[in-house]
Amino acid sequence: MVKICCIGAGYVGGPTMAVIALKCPSVEVVVVDISAPRIAAWNSDHLPIYEPGLDDVVKECRGRNLFFSTDVEKHVAEADIVFVSVNTPTKTRGLGAGKAADLTYWESAARMIADVSKSDKIVVEKSTVPVKTAEAIEKILTHNSKGINYQILSNPEFLAEGTAIKDLFNPDRVLIGGRETPEGQKAIQALADVYGQWVPKERILATNLWSAELSKLAANAFLAQRISSVNAMSALCEATGADVSQVSYAVGTDTRIGPKFLNASVGYGGSCFQKDILNLVYICECNGLPEVANYWKQVIQINDYQKSRFVNRVVSSMFNTVSGKKIAVLGFAFKKDTGDTRETPAIDVCKGLLGDNARLSIYDPQVNEDQIQRDLTMKKFDWDHPTHLQPMSPTSLKQVSVVWDAYEATKDAHGVCILTEWDEFKGLDFQKIYDNMQKPAFIFDGRNIVNAEKLREIGFIVYSIGKPLDKWLKDMPAVA
Ligand code: NAD
Ligand code: UDX
Repeated sequence: MVKICCIGAGYVGGPTMAVIALKCPSVEVVVVDISAPRIAAWNSDHLPIYEPGLDDVVKECRGRNLFFSTDVEKHVAEADIVFVSVNTPTKTRGLGAGKAADLTYWESAARMIADVSKSDKIVVEKSTVPVKTAEAIEKILTHNSKGINYQILSNPEFLAEGTAIKDLFNPDRVLIGGRETPEGQKAIQALADVYGQWVPKERILATNLWSAELSKLAANAFLAQRISSVNAMSALCEATGADVSQVSYAVGTDTRIGPKFLNASVGYGGSCFQKDILNLVYICECNGLPEVANYWKQVIQINDYQKSRFVNRVVSSMFNTVSGKKIAVLGFAFKKDTGDTRETPAIDVCKGLLGDNARLSIYDPQVNEDQIQRDLTMKKFDWDHPTHLQPMSPTSLKQVSVVWDAYEATKDAHGVCILTEWDEFKGLDFQKIYDNMQKPAFIFDGRNIVNAEKLREIGFIVYSIGKPLDKWLKDMPAVA
């Protein structure tokens, strides 16, 4: 029986290993983590992450060929294949702070593998890492050579949160990079055999190590670039009277461009895009390519611009001040169908509104008060250092209340900001909401999910990203 151990029971390690266990009943999969609470949650009825379909997969395999444990060393020592899926946050201090990937967690995992291994192993980079990380890992693993043979593979993960199980069941591709030696090719084949249990052969791509590592950063940069492109267009649409949905549709019907990932929004969030582009920018700079670095930096700058443009629109529409006004925030997660708030645009929007002294009432169906308070008081880039390693914020913001109902959040509010595209927001009784709000009542739709015309008929003043502005908003132009 092939034994797999995955170090890191997070958003990637947990779902990925659960699906491998489901699809490969003859493989034993153990997911290990230094976080005891996280492992306890994986072993309970309340999994540590919310992901549609995940509960069923875990229920079917846990205790059969899927195990979660804090006994990291034992399971690493016993494994044939070790996946490393630890977090690789942006460095917060020292050389490359604010850009470079912090490989502390990766390095400590690699040193531990070297210390405890007694048999040959395939070590798989599942985390997103800078190009050439495999070379550094190889050095660490072979430093105290005990005659053990390690093959390093790069097998980046492309799942998106909210659709992780669907993506893992039916991936566009599985990418495996390895050394171009007979041993390297043999290791690629061993991993391809695991995925080959459910992924069609033609979708399993083999490359050299550096191509696989770089492809992950490139794919995220391309995806984020599409959103920044459409968001840049949304600003121009508002200025000209064009409608960004019509423009996206017209552009996306070109088969060379394609229709996906062209939804204008308040900005992209999530643990990956910004971190990975910053990492790419840093690598370009280190390789003497400032022009390339500046090109990708713009993707982040437009994203920041889109978030501050949204805040400015809210403030300027409401007589240039939100001081003391109650603003309802619907949605805090970085996208629907996840409780993840890492780099969510809601953080910057809320901080912007708080900067103008607003009172916020926040509702998200999957995010609790502790998490929101933590996010709004945490320093930038601290978020991707595991929460269990961080102290709870000593203060909570008094101007922020977190409620468990959209109607409660909007009661007596002057304005509503929709920041996550949860399906339930589309079905709200907006007449009821309007009746209970201060007048004039504003809705700022950061995800273009509500029917603006219907809401205008009720009496709302409505702002939708990239859509023609109503008269009120035209008369109160936002300062970008
Ligand atoms: P996460 O923070 O949810 O999980 C990482 C886990 O690793 C944590 O539970 C942490 O306790 C554990 N860990 C850290 N150091 C450890 C060690 N030495 N030994 C044992 N456990 C350790 O992170 P994530 O979202 O799962 O991301 C993991 C990697 O995958 C990152 O490199 C990320 O860029 C990449 N990635 C993430 C996504 C995503 O959608 N979240 C998608 C593709 C790739
Ligand atoms: C992303 C990549 O899609 C995935 O392949 C990679 O493995 C991890 O990073 P994720 O961040 O989980 O996945 O979600 P994604 O669906 O890409 O959305 C990222 C952000 O972009 C969200 O805030 C989302 O709301 C926003 N978005 C997405 C838009 O604003 N417009 C779009 O058209 C699509």
